[in-house]
Amino acid sequence: MSVVITQETTNRQQNLIIKTAAGLSLQGRIRVPGDKSISHRALMLGAIASGETRIQGLLLGEDPRSTASCFQALGAEISELNTELVTVKGIGLGQLQEPVDVLDAGNSGTTLRLMLGILASHPGRFFAVTGDHSLRSRPMSRVVKPLQQMGAQIWGRQANSLAPLAIQGQTLQPIHYNSPIASAQVKSCILLAGLMTAGETTITEPALSRDHSERMLQAFGAQLNIDPETHSVTVTGPAQLQGQSVIVPGDISSAAFWLVAAAIVPDSELVIENVGVNPTRTGILEALSMMNADVQLENQRLVAGEPVADLRVRSSKLKSCTIAGDLIPRLIDEIPILAVAAVFAQGTTVIRDAAELRVKESDRIAVMANQLQHMGANAIELPDGLEIVGGTPLTGTDVDSHTDHRIAMSLAIAALSSAGTTTIHRAEAAAISYPDFVPTLEQVCRT
Ligand code: S3P
Repeated sequence: MSVVITQETTNRQQNLIIKTAAGLSLQGRIRVPGDKSISHRALMLGAIASGETRIQGLLLGEDPRSTASCFQALGAEISELNTELVTVKGIGLGQLQEPVDVLDAGNSGTTLRLMLGILASHPGRFFAVTGDHSLRSRPMSRVVKPLQQMGAQIWGRQANSLAPLAIQGQTLQPIHYNSPIASAQVKSCILLAGLMTAGETTITEPALSRDHSERMLQAFGAQLNIDPETHSVTVTGPAQLQGQSVIVPGDISSAAFWLVAAAIVPDSELVIENVGVNPTRTGILEALSMMNADVQLENQRLVAGEPVADLRVRSSKLKSCTIAGDLIPRLIDEIPILAVAAVFAQGTTVIRDAAELRVKESDRIAVMANQLQHMGANAIELPDGLEIVGGTPLTGTDVDSHTDHRIAMSLAIAALSSAGTTTIHRAEAAAISYPDFVPTLEQVCRT
């Protein structure tokens, strides 16, 4: 046996223990769970549209569960969550009910920030929203400020910038907002507020972020004007939204763990079926190609308005690269696992322009630099990224996810190429976006 994977639970925290020996290779055909961004949007648009929305392939992670429970509390009828078919009986635009309790977005920034745009534009209703320890420390001013410019009334800690937040819904005014950051959460929040707002609401971002909201809003019947030159999107309100059928592709952010795993573990070959390859999300494929990874796109097709492919990855000798600029928003969630790839690449990989990582579920720059150093890597923290000198072998040790799902899974993949035993503390965080991560790990490691 070239790898032994065990789990132990202590004080409601789970340790994932990975013990490696020579001869490990990863093989097989796998599927990854539904795209997290698309799952959130399908539930939210389904809830505020008229008529029924049918969702196939929904991610059953904790984040979409938070979205579903918030919108149930707001009056939408959502069937039991499963991957086959979830039905959402929409209540119609502007018809959300005032909930009797605080809405809890859990660990999910997307739930909280997108929902704020919807709530702030519901006149006459009062809402209170909160989240877990991590979410209560993440900046909300990036959405609160533009919403206030539209006339929203929102209160919270530290000059209305931290959850818990209180919202008194209002009739809003359209604005043209120039966002200082390329963020799909900011863009989507403003567009969702614009749905209920008479006139043209425009958001311009400095670089293109993921465009799932634009695609799905148009499919549900909203009128959008998209200017790719200036990265601007305009919504004309009040909009009419009609429930639709949504097929959620596999999440490329989850596939990224297997792409890097098979790239760095010698003699591996994996096929990851049915992965969303929307061009606003494929920065990871471009970065891996710069690093000389062997990734092929097969069976490319369009499924319910989103491009999808099967990804075949074989191990190869990786080399370093520089990841910066407009590429960053197109791979922002994949930087922790790209840092792992960089540890096994020849040369110095530099990641810049990624200061946003400091305000994700954890400070992903500090945590990745720290945990990889702990395993023996030459990883240096930069103010806005990381510098990693590849080629130093890793040794198994105790590491910690800091309750961040993407850190937990990145460290598990690093462990596969480390000598000895690695214990990943608080590995249960993976369930936020990938509940079946460990069973899939066991499946592909079968030798
Ligand atoms: C998301 C947008 C990104 C990403 C997050 C999901 C979305 O955040 O990091 O995991 O679904 O809109 P930002 O918009 O803050 O960059």
